[in-house]
Amino acid sequence: MAVDLEKILFEISAFTPSSLSELESFRIKYLGKKGVVKELSSHIRNIDPAQRKAFGQSLNELKRAVEQKIEDYKALLDSARDPSILGFDPSRKTGVEEMGARHPVSLVRREIEEIFQHIGFTVASGPEIEDDWHNFSALNFPENHPARDMQDTFFVEKDPDIALRTHTSSVQVRVMESNEPPIRIIAPGRVYRNEAISARSHCVFHQVEGLYIDKGVTFADMVQTIQYFAEAFFGKAKIRLRPSYFPFTEPSAEVDVYWGLENEVDHRITKGTGWLEIMGCGMVDPDVLKSSGIDPNEYSGYAFGMGIERIAMNRFQIGDIRMLFENDIRFLSQLKGAW
Ligand code: PHE
Repeated sequence: MAVDLEKILFEISAFTPSSLSELESFRIKYLGKKGVVKELSSHIRNIDPAQRKAFGQSLNELKRAVEQKIEDYKALLDSARDPSILGFDPSRKTGVEEMGARHPVSLVRREIEEIFQHIGFTVASGPEIEDDWHNFSALNFPENHPARDMQDTFFVEKDPDIALRTHTSSVQVRVMESNEPPIRIIAPGRVYRNEAISARSHCVFHQVEGLYIDKGVTFADMVQTIQYFAEAFFGKAKIRLRPSYFPFTEPSAEVDVYWGLENEVDHRITKGTGWLEIMGCGMVDPDVLKSSGIDPNEYSGYAFGMGIERIAMNRFQIGDIRMLFENDIRFLSQLKGAW
């Protein structure tokens, strides 16, 4: 049998794959079970013993040439994928670059932060997985007290002491525990409640907490700060406070801003009253100050908390809270350019 190994070797070296599947066919053709190398090895017996060694060596050479080809092509593909080698990303789509958009929740959060930073508040944060002390006990929710049912809680199964925080008020406690007054912070963040998801409520949402502790802080100071916020954010000057109850503030109130009833949308978002509820607030209960290591005889303060989604829904006329969590590009891209 006359086998022209030189010719085969030349074929191998001339092969230039243009895809991985072509490369695979090439591999099978030469190295596969019924491939050229196997086939030639089976003929080794028929070869003149004097030439067997040389034939074997050539065959090995051929095999190595195939393997080298495969390796080289794979390395080439890898380097093409690595933008740092090429200096650009070859997988990037051509055409006009799509602009991103900020999420409505981020837009509102940033705006609230800026308004409060302007009057000396700094931004604080705390953990989303919280212990019973910071989320409930230190905030005056007694154990087994029905007040805890105001906020349906997701507990971490193995440990009834650990839960997903139900409100950002837990950050109040953390900040008071580790800082001396005067304290003036806002704390934006994600909170969780074990509630059915609907157009109006969600099991995950965002709040912004506010806390001001100093000597001689009064209810009037709180009202004035909220008034300033309502004007800065909503552009509406009229607010009203309705008495309310929170275990950690006394007295407590809910704040409405007068929105107006000029058109059908106004009627819808204010439920026909003209007033829009924006936050809960109150004077920090002396027991809460004490629990957090602050002397209530020396200091007093106020706290407030508001839901970002609610406010974002009003600002951007969003009818269903779920739209804020689905991340549908068609919805989000409507806010392109908003800053
Ligand atoms: N934590 C309260 C809530 O989630 C809001 C609140 C904060 C009320 C601070 C008063 C003071 O409903």
